[in-house]
Amino acid sequence: MTTIRRIAILTSGGDAPGMNAAIRSAARSAVSHGWEAYGVRRGFAGLMAGDFKALGPRDVGGVLQQGGTFLGSARAPEFKTAEGQQKAVEALSAAGIDAVVVIGGNGSQTGAHALSKHGIPVAGIASTIDNDLAGSDITIGVDTALNIALEAIDRLKVTASSHQRAFLVEVMGRDCGYLALMAGIAGGAESICIPEIPTTPEQVAAELDDAFQRGKTHGLIVVAEGAAHDATALAAYLVEHGKHRPGYEVRSSILGHVQRGGIPTASDRILGARLAAHAVDCLARGQVNVLAGMVANQVTATPLAEVAGKHKPFPSDLFDLAKTLVR
Ligand code: F6P
Repeated sequence: MTTIRRIAILTSGGDAPGMNAAIRSAARSAVSHGWEAYGVRRGFAGLMAGDFKALGPRDVGGVLQQGGTFLGSARAPEFKTAEGQQKAVEALSAAGIDAVVVIGGNGSQTGAHALSKHGIPVAGIASTIDNDLAGSDITIGVDTALNIALEAIDRLKVTASSHQRAFLVEVMGRDCGYLALMAGIAGGAESICIPEIPTTPEQVAAELDDAFQRGKTHGLIVVAEGAAHDATALAAYLVEHGKHRPGYEVRSSILGHVQRGGIPTASDRILGARLAAHAVDCLARGQVNVLAGMVANQVTATPLAEVAGKHKPFPSDLFDLAKTLVR
């Protein structure tokens, strides 16, 4: 078992609200084990460049309420190459760093797994607004992103009702429909379009027609960015479809990165704190190359080999629930 004296902490991939709580928790948990903590600027890009800064307990103060990641993040394609990984290994050795904590989603944990294969003890922390990562029921950032989407939906419903309009709201999630499905259930959508359960434009139009016929004054359609037909394509179809129907107007809003920039909710801060402390504890007891996640409401450690490149099963029963609730 490697003796750990100094760890590096990095955030990688798309930033997620609550990452700062995780950095703070990892740094202070490291100190509680008698170790030194270093932050890595700009994720794996900074790791390859040896861009480290010491993170004492005071350096991670005042960050809980900030969205994003104060360490910076990046997409670093070079880290996928053997040369890139070798640069990182050399930079870690030069800085005397014994282990690395990687806070991020799918791509980041695949990077963490690659690093571990070079003999570096690694612990991952499940963090992505997409909630598509295997090894954790919920990931840091999802709750905040979902609440931002929901606030937008609630507001759009108000103006939709005033004008008897249909509104398409496109939410993030890459190729996962989790955020769209949950926002649709929480926001009372008339139709939900997600990649996992494809919906045709004709089906969406039929759901909208039904809603207006049942006396609704608005039609809310939540669309995942990865759905077979995005909000722009669906809007074009619906405008054409509703051309000769009085009162049938369509507008669309693409929320995009707005969902990533929010103030972290209490839930995301607590999740960040718990998962990061668990990741550091795992390293301390030699349980390395694992992802700290939350499964069945318990903090867990899943081997990175079972996480890298994998997606967790989609809760399709909740899609059925959404359908039941549209009346
Ligand atoms: O993975 C998080 C995420 O926000 C996805 O939902 C989205 O598809 C992607 O990142 C956007 O990436 P970028 O920030 O590089 O534009």
